[in-house]
Amino acid sequence: MRKYEIAVIPGDGIGKEVVPVSLKVLETVAEVHGGLKFDFKEFPWSCEYYMEHGKMMPDDGVKTLSNFDSIFLGAIGNPNLVADHVSLWGLLIKIRREFEQSINIRPAKYFKGLRSPLVNPNDFDLIVVRENSEGEYSEVGGRIHRGEDEVAIQNAVFTRKGTERAMKYAFELAQKRRGHVTSATKSNGIVHSMPFWDEVFKDVKSSYPDVKTDSFHIDALAAFFVTRPQIFDVIVASNLFGDILTDIGGAIMGSIGIAPAANINLNGKYPSMFEPVHGSAPDIYGKGIANPIGQIWTAKMMLDHFGEYELGQKLLDVVEDVTNDGIKTGDIGGTATTIEVGDEICRRLKKVV
Ligand code: NAI
Ligand code: MG
Repeated sequence: MRKYEIAVIPGDGIGKEVVPVSLKVLETVAEVHGGLKFDFKEFPWSCEYYMEHGKMMPDDGVKTLSNFDSIFLGAIGNPNLVADHVSLWGLLIKIRREFEQSINIRPAKYFKGLRSPLVNPNDFDLIVVRENSEGEYSEVGGRIHRGEDEVAIQNAVFTRKGTERAMKYAFELAQKRRGHVTSATKSNGIVHSMPFWDEVFKDVKSSYPDVKTDSFHIDALAAFFVTRPQIFDVIVASNLFGDILTDIGGAIMGSIGIAPAANINLNGKYPSMFEPVHGSAPDIYGKGIANPIGQIWTAKMMLDHFGEYELGQKLLDVVEDVTNDGIKTGDIGGTATTIEVGDEICRRLKKVV
């Protein structure tokens, strides 16, 4: 029996609606499979918790989480109770930083039953590996001469270690997919860090002769996400480039309510964290109409992380069939509730897993 211990943080707003549905789906996966067990431990850390305790999580919260195999998170944020920067930095960013979750991965694919804004979405299926700890989002720099003579300097930081580990992850991921890695560069315009990026890419790729590669400047690459996303399998990108590409990836799928994400710890010292792209959606919270697919697909990414690829694929296939058959929430053109979508997925899982 394979057993996984998972810390669950539903958080705020629709996180409290889509997380329970996703846990039910995971439990169904385990039940039907027979050789798998999930131990869920739920933590109430959220903006409501903040109102009671004056902090988003207990002082030893991070230490508590470190004992789990992974963290499954809904969404954080209730600007009516707690300012967003306080809730975000008090929980999400704290976990990402302290657990050295140095890359962020976000898949995007043509999803049956969804309206992509692309005229011809044609079965694209890609995943962006975004360096998540350095690059353009660094604290190095400053401002001097306030006023008319003001100068602002923002330094990008690229370390060999940080660059290499993101690229290696991309290559290993590609080996499990269609064997193709694209590097997002801009060495024609950014003359220090991006030629370095290209050199490291060349070094790393020599260890993966079975993986095909190409490299595009980020401007052209962003355009190709819109005009021919089918040419991509795995894309490795710096922090800023990855940030932008993943938003385009979400957009070409058709709804933020279905997009999943994972923050991966690569050194194995700490758990990774799985959370959908969307936030707590206070505008629809409490109505039972939130799309649970983003959270359920996030659960699929967690299964992948555990090495349960086959199960993960079966789960995603079922989700896609359910969507294609029109059992879907309002944001993607249906009339089903959050719970109805989850129940239908569970019902069909019992037939296929
Ligand atoms: P949001 O993603 O919560 O909502 C944006 C729009 O998309 C809303 O109209 C919402 O109704 C819709 N939407 C989002 N998820 C949906 C779903 N599953 N099904 C159907 N419709 C969905 O972003 P917003 O409104 O900017 O932020 C709301 C709160 O969430 C803020 O406090 C923000 O800080 C927080 N937030 C938290 C994130 C996280 O926990 N990782 C990420 C993004 C925002
Ligand atoms: Mg972004």
